[in-house]
Amino acid sequence: MIGTAQFGMPYGIKEHPDIPDDNQLNDLLNYLWDTGVRWLDTAEGYGKAEQRIGTWHQYHSNKRFNICTKVTGLDHSSRKDLLQSAKRHVIACCNRLNVTMIDILLWHSADEYLSDPLTCQVIMKELQKEGLIKLWGVSAYPFHNLMPMLSSEMDMIQLPFNILDSRLIDNGVLKAFHSSGIKIYARSVLLQGLLTRSTISPDNKLSFCIEALRKYQNVCHNYKRCQGQMAIDYVLSIPQISGIVLGCRSLDQFQTLKKWINSTEVLTSDCIEEINKTFRQIDPRVITPTMW
Ligand SMILES: NC(=O)c1ccc[n+]([C@@H]2O[C@H](COP(=O)([O-])OP(=O)(O)OC[C@H]3O[C@@H](n4cnc5c(N)ncnc54)[C@H](OP(=O)(O)O)[C@@H]3O)[C@@H](O)[C@H]2O)c1
Repeated sequence: MIGTAQFGMPYGIKEHPDIPDDNQLNDLLNYLWDTGVRWLDTAEGYGKAEQRIGTWHQYHSNKRFNICTKVTGLDHSSRKDLLQSAKRHVIACCNRLNVTMIDILLWHSADEYLSDPLTCQVIMKELQKEGLIKLWGVSAYPFHNLMPMLSSEMDMIQLPFNILDSRLIDNGVLKAFHSSGIKIYARSVLLQGLLTRSTISPDNKLSFCIEALRKYQNVCHNYKRCQGQMAIDYVLSIPQISGIVLGCRSLDQFQTLKKWINSTEVLTSDCIEEINKTFRQIDPRVITPTMW
């Protein structure tokens, strides 16, 4: 699945991140389609991302990406208000995306979902019954209270997960969700691009990542893998992960991502444990982009 936050708003760790212009985005979406990519991850909160995907759909009426999108800020005054506001948001998403239904709808805020999980579930089922969405789930962070979600009937959970951060393995979350049949999609596999960086200068606001990046480069050197490749190898080697969401802002970046995905090597459980041991005591700021 390709992440589209980069299509619609300044995003990422660069000081002045660019958004692809219309021609660049059209070329990228054409290329994604032609190389067989069918899933896009987006959100109503990603600036103009949904609208820009919708424009591409409008000009390619015989092609349609499968869409995972996210909503938040619904009206929770009563069950009726919640259903009405969920419908309004989903219909607005469909209109922007130029589609008639959403393939996967996620609660963008796990806190919002957790404020009343039972009602939120009922609402999702209503949207399914009305043919507005196919599947549903929650976008969350490792610090959320995830275990109560296991008894829900959600189809998927999206979580940040990467080679420097084994918390979801160590606390049993991945195994528990996998056993309960809820699909786990990992996002921020490249830590917003940090894991592909060669250096960070001491005066950069991310200078606290210098030591972790150096350690990571040593791991890659030992395994004779380039940094991006190793990050993807690791996440795709975790048996409980059903899929990954990779963000890219250009055709060049996607071509390299594609090469890495096609060259994935599965790591043994011993390698995975050795890597986890290397990073278990990592500075928490490194694996928490909201603190950058
Ligand atoms: N649900 C949520 O709350 C939530 C939160 C965050 C993200 N997401 C979703 O997940 C997607 C991916 O997350 P993410 O962007 O944080 O993580 P990511 O996939 O770990 O990182 C994407 C960044 O990696 C860099 N990159 C990509 N391809 C590269 C290449 N070939 N060579 C070098 N660098 C490369 C780019 O950085 P530069 O842009 O700096 O070039 C790109 O923006 C987003 O687009 C969004 O759809 C969801």
